[in-house]
Amino acid sequence: MQESTDSIPKQPIDLPTAADPTPPKRLPKPERGERLEIFTDSFAFEGKAVGRREDGYVIFVEGALAKERVIAEVFKAKGSYADARIIEVLEPSPERRTPLCPYFGICGGCAQQHMTYESQLYWKKEQVRDLFRKIGKIEEPPVRDVIGSEAEFHYRNKMEFSFSDQRWLTDDEIGSDSAQDRFALGLHVRNRFDRVIDAKTCFLPKPIVTDILDFTRRFTIEHKLGVYSPDTTPDGLMRFLVVKTSHTTGEIMVNLVTSREEPETMQRFTTDLLSSVPSVTTVVNNVNTRRAQVAVGDFEKIYLGDGTIRDTIGRAEYRISANSFFQANTPQAERLYAVAAEFAELQKTDTLWDLYCGTGTISLFVADRVQSVLGVELVEAAIADARSNALSNGVSNADFIASDLRKALTTPEFLAEHQRPDVMIIDPPRSGMHPDVIREILKLAPERIAYISCNPATQARDVELLSAGYELLDLQPVDMFPQTYHIECVAKLRRRS
Ligand SMILES: C[S@@+](CC[C@H](N)C(=O)[O-])C[C@H]1O[C@@H](n2cnc3c(N)ncnc32)[C@H](O)[C@@H]1O
Repeated sequence: MQESTDSIPKQPIDLPTAADPTPPKRLPKPERGERLEIFTDSFAFEGKAVGRREDGYVIFVEGALAKERVIAEVFKAKGSYADARIIEVLEPSPERRTPLCPYFGICGGCAQQHMTYESQLYWKKEQVRDLFRKIGKIEEPPVRDVIGSEAEFHYRNKMEFSFSDQRWLTDDEIGSDSAQDRFALGLHVRNRFDRVIDAKTCFLPKPIVTDILDFTRRFTIEHKLGVYSPDTTPDGLMRFLVVKTSHTTGEIMVNLVTSREEPETMQRFTTDLLSSVPSVTTVVNNVNTRRAQVAVGDFEKIYLGDGTIRDTIGRAEYRISANSFFQANTPQAERLYAVAAEFAELQKTDTLWDLYCGTGTISLFVADRVQSVLGVELVEAAIADARSNALSNGVSNADFIASDLRKALTTPEFLAEHQRPDVMIIDPPRSGMHPDVIREILKLAPERIAYISCNPATQARDVELLSAGYELLDLQPVDMFPQTYHIECVAKLRRRS
């Protein structure tokens, strides 16, 4: 489903400032397990501090912040740099704070709770600047301050929790009686897809999600429902708990993903859930009979409500079903789209192409500012959602096509059938755009492009490729995911005259 690309740029190792000397080559590699005292000087893309050994050899330290003295243990060493994990903070950075969550450091959900929010935003901007310097080859990238999220916690409108019989054990639990039962319902341990934390709390979704999590855990244990695991317990029932909450209507969807249909259990689950958490508005059961550990079923059954919740971005209202994509931070999605619309300098006479349009949320957000919109997206179900969202919002100037963009843009019939764009809004997956797509965009030559990306490394690479025909005028990072190292960024491009 992801667009294949030749290469995803790797993290540049001489992050983060151009003033840093390039690390000398061929320095002796540290041993795996070796402990080093390091003073970190900056904070790199993907959430690691960067420091140097006395001889200049670069060490990336997980868990450390910029400007702190730490003891770190090396777990991977390469020719020019090593990866290490923090063991002890000797002199803390002024950016360090106490994380709220008891699972911080172990859980894969958050990576930066130990850093003040202000500093998170500062480093995200620096990282965009650095990636555009190194990969985009732009000396002074025009990057604005990051637009922060109003809510630093409880902002996620969708959470996916895994059932597991491989609970992550605390140091106290190892070897104790409680280690016998390894049931867990929660999030994966960082970089460990075989271990799940039995999470009693989570600060990313609304607090009510914790009540649903608690109830589901109790219900599963009380009714001895068993956890599905493809190799060890293929007879187990429970696979995932997915909760979606609406920012604007307050509606709540609980989607239990099971390995088979058990209508009586689901009825009971729904009745008991409503007694415990009455504000739940719809209950869905996705049945996934395949081995693949994904939260999307082969089919779904609805046990309460109509299987959807409604949320709004701008003036458009969207119906969100269990398996349809929707931006995870609703108010920030609105800010992101507003930036894209501003950068695209939309005019009433414009033909706009919304490439990688998903369920058409951007198209509908801007449809009334242009003459017509064409949305193109690979996933047919998303295009079906886009068409029905357009209909229910009374948008009549938007057309949606399900196609691989690489194919669509190189097909003469596709190009013959559609009016050439004056402007494009592009929002590809993390891997960015295929070079063929970039080549075709250069040929189509829209006057203006707003390029949204959730991976500024691939965005910088693509902007460099587009620089044959386009000038980069502006970069606006938007923080969609506080406490994580993810960065969303919009680039404003104008065709060279
Ligand atoms: C980042 S999402 C865009 C989401 C959408 N713009 C929104 O704001 O909700 C990227 C989209 O690109 C689609 N996609 C991935 N590869 C594609 C391809 N080769 N051709 C067309 N669409 C593709 C994915 O299915 C996904 O919906």
